[in-house]
Amino acid sequence: MPESRCLQGIWSSPWIFIFAASGSAVGLGNIWKFPYVLGQNGGGAFLLVYCLCLLLVGLPVLIAEVALGRTVRSNPIDTVNDLSERRIVHSAWVVVPWIAGITGFLILSFYSVIAGWSFAYLERAISGDFMGITSSSATDMFSELLAEPSEMLLWHSVFVVLVVMTVGQSVTRGLSAVVRFLLPALVITLGALAVYSVSIGDMDSTLRFMFQWSWQDVTFDVVLAAVSLALFSLSVGMGAMFAYGAYINKRMSIARACTIVVGVDLLVALLSGLVIFPLVFAFQIDVEAGPSLTFVSLPIIFGNLIGGQFFASIFFLLLVIAALTSAISMLELFVAWLHEKFYIARLKAAFLMGVLVWFVGVAVLLSFNHWDSDIVLGLNFFEVLDSVTSLILLPIGAILLSILVAWFIPHAMLQNEMITQRLSHFQWWYNVLKYISIPAMVMITVAGWIGV
Ligand code: PHE
Repeated sequence: MPESRCLQGIWSSPWIFIFAASGSAVGLGNIWKFPYVLGQNGGGAFLLVYCLCLLLVGLPVLIAEVALGRTVRSNPIDTVNDLSERRIVHSAWVVVPWIAGITGFLILSFYSVIAGWSFAYLERAISGDFMGITSSSATDMFSELLAEPSEMLLWHSVFVVLVVMTVGQSVTRGLSAVVRFLLPALVITLGALAVYSVSIGDMDSTLRFMFQWSWQDVTFDVVLAAVSLALFSLSVGMGAMFAYGAYINKRMSIARACTIVVGVDLLVALLSGLVIFPLVFAFQIDVEAGPSLTFVSLPIIFGNLIGGQFFASIFFLLLVIAALTSAISMLELFVAWLHEKFYIARLKAAFLMGVLVWFVGVAVLLSFNHWDSDIVLGLNFFEVLDSVTSLILLPIGAILLSILVAWFIPHAMLQNEMITQRLSHFQWWYNVLKYISIPAMVMITVAGWIGV
């Protein structure tokens, strides 16, 4: 193992890991994806299932991923190779980190395009373009952005360069300092915006939409969407947390740290919902609008707010930083592997990956305009990537990883990893993972695929 990992690559305190892992979890998934997926899946029923998924699937799998990262303290691919050399698991299990890495890579290639939208909106915010905006001009503003690839290309490229430069450094350096400031700032800003949005928007419809549900709304599609969003939002099933787990020191309670991460992640998602939906209902924006929902409703808030230009600039700046702290964790798996296995400098490894991400991202941004044609099942390239990663690769990655941890890694080895947990807590986690999370993920994913 190269020296750098041993000397610089350990989080110096549990809180730093918590901040970094929350930085990976909190991102566009909470502020952009959560509201629109909630909108498309009918509101309350989805939210209820989503919370259950976070607790019964997301949290146990997150703990499993982090614990596995800590067992060998190497990148995910070498971890599995090492376990197989020690005859603990079969070498075929190396497929798990590969699926995880490829999923993270594919997600990053569209994530950087969406982060580019946030950059474009940051520029508009600073220029005061939201002032006096109406719901129809907000819709036009977003459509114009999508129609013109050159601006998206610029911001996508800027974002990829930032990701490469950040991942090129050791992740444990600097990252936690940024996230330590980012998270409280984001929560406070979203909280203040939620109060404002509720005061000018339609609170009754929002509460009814988000918190009322009935059994017939709980379909397999809704459940599959909830599981996959929970995995996406917690950054699990992609090796990101696995890679971060490798940097944790032995004294830390993994379960406690992961529970805090899940709480922060849910809080930010809920606040985003409370910011966006009161306006969606008040201004009669289509709740099922999809990916445009956040980008159409937010300018309306800022356009009507005293000091809106200032708050909009702060908000979109925070959003871009939140996207960045998530994006770097998507590349970390391959960068750490290239660095540790082939001794390629981190920056060079990040650059190689960045070039690939950039090319796939260009195809994604073209799919909103010049190349807006159906690839399969009436979906364009962006929708195909989003669906393949969220509904297929992510659940498969999470299921295989959990099976590996729950059924193949020796119990004693895991227990040793969790030494800082009370035994009863360990047993709880182990049984939930084995007998609830894995069967639930398998059933839901398969049922969702065959469209039960
Ligand atoms: N969890 C991140 C978000 O909510 C997205 C992400 C996915 C990050 C996969 C890392 C790996 O925005």
